[in-house]
Amino acid sequence: MPLVSMRQLLDEAAKGGYGVGAFNVNDMEQIQAIMGAAKETNSPVIIQASRGARQFAQDRYLFHLILAAAELNPDIPIAMHQDHGNSFETCKSAIELGYTSVMMDGSLKEDGKTPSTFEENVEVTRKVVEYAHERGVTVEGEIGVLGGVEDGHGAGGTGLEHITDPDQAVEFAERTGVDALAIAIGTSHGAYKFTKKPDGSVLKMDVLIAIHKRLPQTHLVMHGSSSVPKDLQDVVNKYGGKLKETWGVPVEEIQLGIRNGVRKINVDTDNRLAMTGAIRKVLWETPEKFDPRDYMKPAREAMQKVVALRMTQFGQAGHAGDYKPMLITEIAKGYADGSLDTRPSMAAAR
Ligand code: G3H
Ligand code: 13P
Ligand code: ZN
Repeated sequence: MPLVSMRQLLDEAAKGGYGVGAFNVNDMEQIQAIMGAAKETNSPVIIQASRGARQFAQDRYLFHLILAAAELNPDIPIAMHQDHGNSFETCKSAIELGYTSVMMDGSLKEDGKTPSTFEENVEVTRKVVEYAHERGVTVEGEIGVLGGVEDGHGAGGTGLEHITDPDQAVEFAERTGVDALAIAIGTSHGAYKFTKKPDGSVLKMDVLIAIHKRLPQTHLVMHGSSSVPKDLQDVVNKYGGKLKETWGVPVEEIQLGIRNGVRKINVDTDNRLAMTGAIRKVLWETPEKFDPRDYMKPAREAMQKVVALRMTQFGQAGHAGDYKPMLITEIAKGYADGSLDTRPSMAAAR
């Protein structure tokens, strides 16, 4: 099966009332872990690569690994997504490579750190939408700013500093025509999200619900959605790691989001913890070992376990065969004739 449009995956998820995990990859083992979990649970998948990942693995290596995943798993719809694109050029290069979806994170300036103005965000995102939609490629935008820093990317802070304003979200959707919209409701990237278990009043679910009510046709995206489970932290620390006590996003909060328009859920940190814990365990318990396969195999298995669990919790499990994937060229026609237009004014006119 060729790579499919993320828009189709998310439209189907909306019809089915479930969410789709978007898992970050940097190497072959992570791709294999995701595909293993997708096969095990019969799930459609979104595989995503950050700018850092594209640089680390080198574009063509990474892209060809994804193509291998598609070749070996013809029954599983796979969307390949650029995570946190920082400029038009980054998104264009992903599209030229063959990614079927891009995120233009215009909430930050091109340096990936400084919050941008609303007008700057609208301008760059609209430009990406025009370019991408002509080619049948999906676009995710972001309004509001997440907390935390990953690999030098991110505004820092707690995640509660730039919560999305629902009025701005509506104006942004109208002026850009994005397919999916990442909103800031108090989450942040990385392991250190909360210093105590968030009790339901910490994440701004009321903001999410208000945005979904006003933008029912725009798929909402939750970034920074790792749950940072204690058992994964414990494995890392048991075998020589030094993680400080921390809490992530409870799965029940994500599920509440899914009942209110969240269709894409970004998870990276949980998989990083799972792999690192498994590698530490092998090296700690059997320091005489030096064959990378001795620790990469358990690392891959540990990640597959986390991904399969999330696929089940998000509800995508069992849905891989629900629909016939459309060619990207057919999707491009839908954008051209207006049938895939998500702008509130166009949706109201239909
Ligand atoms: O958004 C952040 C993702 O976890 C990717 O992180 O930029 O370190 O690859 P990265
Ligand atoms: P986590 O750091 O919570 O896994 O978030 C990942 C993410 O949002 C990638 O874009
Ligand atoms: Zn993110």
